[in-house]
Amino acid sequence: MSTPANRDPRVDQAALSDQDLVDLHEKQLGRHPDDGARYRLLPIGILFTLSALILFSGTYLNRYTGHYSASIFDENAKPTTGAPVAVKLDPVAVGRKAYGEVCITCHQPTGTGVVGVYPPLAGSEWVNGPSSRVVRIVLYGLKGDIHVEGHVFNAAAMPVFGKVANSAYNWNDAKIAAVLTYVRQEWGNKAAEVSADEVTAVRTATGDRKEMSEAELEQVK
Ligand code: HEC
Repeated sequence: MSTPANRDPRVDQAALSDQDLVDLHEKQLGRHPDDGARYRLLPIGILFTLSALILFSGTYLNRYTGHYSASIFDENAKPTTGAPVAVKLDPVAVGRKAYGEVCITCHQPTGTGVVGVYPPLAGSEWVNGPSSRVVRIVLYGLKGDIHVEGHVFNAAAMPVFGKVANSAYNWNDAKIAAVLTYVRQEWGNKAAEVSADEVTAVRTATGDRKEMSEAELEQVK
C-alpha cells in the first residue's frame, strides 16, 4: 500500500506555473485562450474619462471653494459698504499700557512717585500744565532740580523716551502722546489730551537734544 508523500493540495497548487493557472481557469470557464491579450480590468476609454473627471474636479474645488474659509461660507454675513473701517484705539487705554511698561516703576501705579526721588504725576503742575512742556519732558528727559507740588527733586534723572539720538526707549510719537494723554487724565488729573501730531511737531522743531532742565522748560510757552 503506497501513500503519496504529501497529501496537502496546496503543495501541488504552488507547484503550478502562472501559465498553468491561466490555462486551468480558462478551461473551467470554457473560454478561449487570451491570445489577443484582451483581458483588462477597465477599458482604456473609461479609465481616461475618469482620470479627466478627477483632474477637473480637483482643479475646480481648489479654485472656487475659497479653501473652505469660514468667512466665505458665512451664510449670516452682512453685505458691507466696501468702505474701509478705521480701527479707533482709545488713547487712554493705549497710554495705560505704555505707562505700565516703564513709567510705573518710578512714578508708581498711583502716580504718587517716591518721596525725595521720583516726583508725583498725580496733581503735578507739569503734567497738568501746558502740553508743550510735558511733551518735551518725556521726549528728551529731565535733569537737575525740578519743583513739583512744593518739593524739589534732583536725586535722579528722568529717562529719554523719544525717537531721538540718546534715547533708551525710542518710543514713537503716537505712544508718547498716548502715555501723556493717560497721565493727564488719570488719578484726578484733568488736562486735555495730547496728539501724536503735537509730539511730532515738537520733535521736528527741536531735533535731537540733551535732557531738559527746569529753567528751559519755563521758557516754553
Ligand atoms: C527711571 C525712573 C523713571 C522712569 C521710568 C520715568 N520717570 Fe519720569 N521722572 C523721573 C525722575 C527722577 C524725574 C525728576 C527728574 C529731575 O529731578 O530732574 C521725573 C520727572 C517726570 C516728570 C516731570 C515732573 C513731574 O512729576 O510732573 C514727568 C511729567 C514725568 N517724569 C513723566 C514720566 C512718564 C510719562 C514716564 C513714562 C513714559 C516716566 N516719567 C518714566 C524718573 C522716571
